[in-house]
Amino acid sequence: MSAETAPQAVAAPQRAVTMEKIVNLCKRRGIVFPASDIYGGLGSTFDYGPLGVELKRNVKEAWWRDMVQRRTDVLGLDSAILQHPRTWEASGHLQNFTDPLVDCKNCKQRFRADHIQGDRCPECGGELTEARQFNLMFKTFMGPVEDTASTIYLRPETAQGIFANFANVIDTQRVKLPFGVAQTGKSFRNEITPGNFIFRTREFEQMEMEFFVKPDPAEEQSWFDYWVNERFNWYVRYGVKQDHLRLRPHAKDELSHYSRGTTDVEFLYPFGWGELEGIARRGSFDLDQHAKYSGKDLTYFDEEAKSRYRPWVIEPAAGVDRTMLAFLIDAYDEDVVEGETRIVLRLDPRLAPVKAAIYPLLRKGGQPEKAHEVRARLAPYFTTTYDQAGSIGRRYRRQDEVGTPFGVTIDHQTMEDDTVTLRDRDTTGQVRVPIAKLVETLTERIGWHR
Ligand code: GAP
Repeated sequence: MSAETAPQAVAAPQRAVTMEKIVNLCKRRGIVFPASDIYGGLGSTFDYGPLGVELKRNVKEAWWRDMVQRRTDVLGLDSAILQHPRTWEASGHLQNFTDPLVDCKNCKQRFRADHIQGDRCPECGGELTEARQFNLMFKTFMGPVEDTASTIYLRPETAQGIFANFANVIDTQRVKLPFGVAQTGKSFRNEITPGNFIFRTREFEQMEMEFFVKPDPAEEQSWFDYWVNERFNWYVRYGVKQDHLRLRPHAKDELSHYSRGTTDVEFLYPFGWGELEGIARRGSFDLDQHAKYSGKDLTYFDEEAKSRYRPWVIEPAAGVDRTMLAFLIDAYDEDVVEGETRIVLRLDPRLAPVKAAIYPLLRKGGQPEKAHEVRARLAPYFTTTYDQAGSIGRRYRRQDEVGTPFGVTIDHQTMEDDTVTLRDRDTTGQVRVPIAKLVETLTERIGWHR
């Protein structure tokens, strides 16, 4: 059973933007750095720089607002990365969370057997070993003694923390089926072949929601359809182009061990179609298993039916890093402004790392002081930046490249009437706005309320 769907063998349509352009921009502008760079890097690990951390926070914020804050039927949770080792016995991860691994007898490289075509090494054509199952969970020890009894695992999915808290949630919150429990957080998988930048890494972040429904096939089907549709449209709402998304139901033989049926939302990356998010029907598999292994009652009491049962689960499970990559790829653009080519990230303003850049037109006449004053006014509401270095055109270009949707310029007129020019990243159009109206105008145009 594979931890993740193998890439499709079909030829993918080409994209104009390349991974190289994205990776270079990310490094050059402090969005994503290779981790442990000063020591020569550490296999597919990445650090998020000053702009990347803002973008990542906004991706999670958007998800949380739509999946928890705006809903009446979903609650949040933040469970521990380290769970009791029995968790992973119960969940089936110890037994089943494996990928088939083959080694090349000649060049010694390792591959996932289900990621290669044919029976020879894709690098040197050498003979391959028989496939053996490799468990993807990272192991460590709890406490000072390093023995079997103290072995624990870094969670490979955030989901199990939700199932382990099912009784806590229904005992302390007034919930009625159907309801969901959502959380975001780090997960770890010792992937055999990580790669494609932040697409597949060994340490990554997930945004998962377990939606509990009555154990009834019709109920399950309608909520499954609902969540597939919701999650597909979510990406479109925040800027992914509809043509770059597709739904792909899993074939029976690629289903995860816990799944009765999964549909992936796939995105057209520059390297081809790949999974962004999986929506799975987990049935009562996890609650049944945890009830069995813990001996605890994990049933729900249905007041209307006057009966107890373990609900079934629909799980939309997304990756923060992949989502961020998809938004970056679809936002990347190059156009010509005033005869000069510019790179512009057309990120949704809600996701943009910095919402507004404040510029004094001149470094004199009280303009820098006024610009600092305006920045201080905006700072409690939005992430902002101040820039007085170079020509105004160059300053605009610098911010366009990292997707800053608004530029606020302080000029000689500002000193007379307390208005500023507000420049739009996408149209490069400018309007005059009173300083007193800036917070309101920016709030409206950033549009978290949409
Ligand atoms: N709880 C279900 C679950 O974990 P999954 O399809 O294995 O399902 C969900 O993972 C999402 O997590 C994926 O769609 C992907 O976005 C992200 N993800 C999984 N493995 C990843 C990896 N090695 N690197 C980055 N993101 C990953």
